[in-house]
This record gives sequence, C-alpha cells and structure tokens, in this order.
Amino acid sequence: MQVAIDGPAGSGKSSVCKIIASKYGLTYIDTGAMYRSVAYVGETFGYDNLEDKVSNIDFILEDNGKKISIKYEGQVYDLTTKIRTPEISSKVASVASIPAIRKILVEKQQSYAKGSDVIMEGRDITTVVLPNADIKIYLTASPEERAKRRYKEWENKGNPPKFEDVLQDIIKRDEMDTNRAESPLKQSEDAIFIDTTGYTLEEVADKIGVIINEKRDN
Ligand code: CDP
Ligand code: CDP
Repeated sequence: MQVAIDGPAGSGKSSVCKIIASKYGLTYIDTGAMYRSVAYVGETFGYDNLEDKVSNIDFILEDNGKKISIKYEGQVYDLTTKIRTPEISSKVASVASIPAIRKILVEKQQSYAKGSDVIMEGRDITTVVLPNADIKIYLTASPEERAKRRYKEWENKGNPPKFEDVLQDIIKRDEMDTNRAESPLKQSEDAIFIDTTGYTLEEVADKIGVIINEKRDN
C-alpha cells in the first residue's frame, strides 16, 4: 500500500503520517526533511556547486521518519533538530525550486518507495513522486491556523519567534511552493481534499484511517 500526501506547511502532514504509519505498519518518508537537509548543506558548506554536493549526500532515514542524518564527505551529521530552525525554514523553498536538486531527491524518494508499503508526504508526492499511489490526499488549513499550530510548537520549545514572523514565513513559502515552475504544490485531480481547519490531529487521522480501510476492503 502506498499513501501519498501533499499540502502546505503546518497542514498536519508529518503528525498525521506518524500516527497512520504506526497504526498501519507503513514506512513514513518525510521528503520536506530532505529538502531542509539540502538547505542546511548550503548554509553550512556553501551554495556553490550545490547540485554536486547534493549528489554526494547519502540520506539516512531512521526511526520511521523521526530521525534524519546525512553522510557527507565521509562524515555523518544528525540533522533531526538542526533543520527545524526559522533560518532553514526561510531558505528551503529557494533550494527546492532548483530543478537539478529536485531531480536528485525525487529519484531517491522513488527508490525508497519501490516495492514498499509507504506513507510519503511533501509538495509533489501525489503529482510527481508517486503518481500511481493507492491513496492520494491533499491536506490543508487556513494560513492563520497553520501559523498558530507552528507558533504553539515554538512556544512549547521555549523562545518562540514573533507570531507575525511565523505567519509571514508560511505565507511566503506557500507562495514560492505553489508558483515555482518545477513541480509546484497543487492538488492532484485524483487526490482527496481534506481541510483540517478546526479539526484535531486525531480527527484527521481517523478520516484518513477510514479511507485506508475502505481501500483495503476493496
Ligand atoms: O514542515 P513544513 O510543512 O514546514 O515543511 P516541509 O514539509 O519540511 O518542507 C519544507 C520545504 O521543502 C517546503 O516549503 C518546500 O519548499 C520544500 N519541499 C518540496 O519542495 N517538495 C517536497 N516534496 C517537500 C518539501
Ligand atoms: O507536516 P506539516 O508541516 O504539514 O504539519 P505538522 O508539522 O504535522 O503540524 C504542525 C503542528 O500542528 C503540529 O504541532 C501538530 O500537532 C499540529 N496540528 C494540529 O494541531 N491539528 C491538526 N489537525 C494537525 C496538526
């Protein structure tokens, strides 16, 4: 079974995927974490020849989507928390708009999914990476609700950025992700649309569970 989920930042993709992955025994693949890792490499090692750098990275995905490391020039870097900063969030959409970078990552993502039961989420999973997925879902919520969710996460960690900055990052990233020439974020015609505004994580996971059960029964 292959489940593909796309949607904008803060729509609940990764949280819902973690619940569904453990409930249905699927491998969870967070493709946004891979683009974030590329932005981290650019920020840390420089943006010159980024494509060559990326083709020499080995991604190490562990703990069913909860941990990501890269092997670069013989050294392993655990990026799990390092890629979740406002700085990386503000840089990632520009590196994700580079066609050559997307090509490398899409090939890797398709190889992870080959012959496996996966739930994969991102921006182009239903349209480009897994166009033949058994189930395709487009998750969204209003920008304000998505920013509130992200803000709450920062508050729980302590030292949150300003709410307005979180909202602006989300609006700017939505804009870049939906308007880029290469594999923009859009709802695939055959994807099920779920607006999660006002719904809890558990309610959304239940809705997706119903869709999976129906598919399994047929
Ligand atoms: O967690 P959040 O929704 O904030 O973002 P993410 O899923 O970690 O993705 C970070 C960024 O990577 C997105 O804003 C996109 O620019 C890019 N991305 C992409 O272009 N294609 C994907 N399949 C996944 C992420
Ligand atoms: O992966 P994506 O950026 O789409 O969203 P996420 O990281 O899964 O969700 C962002 C935050 O919103 C998390 O802290 C979730 O617990 C929360 N959330 C929520 O409160 N209600 C939902 N229906 C979905 C997510």
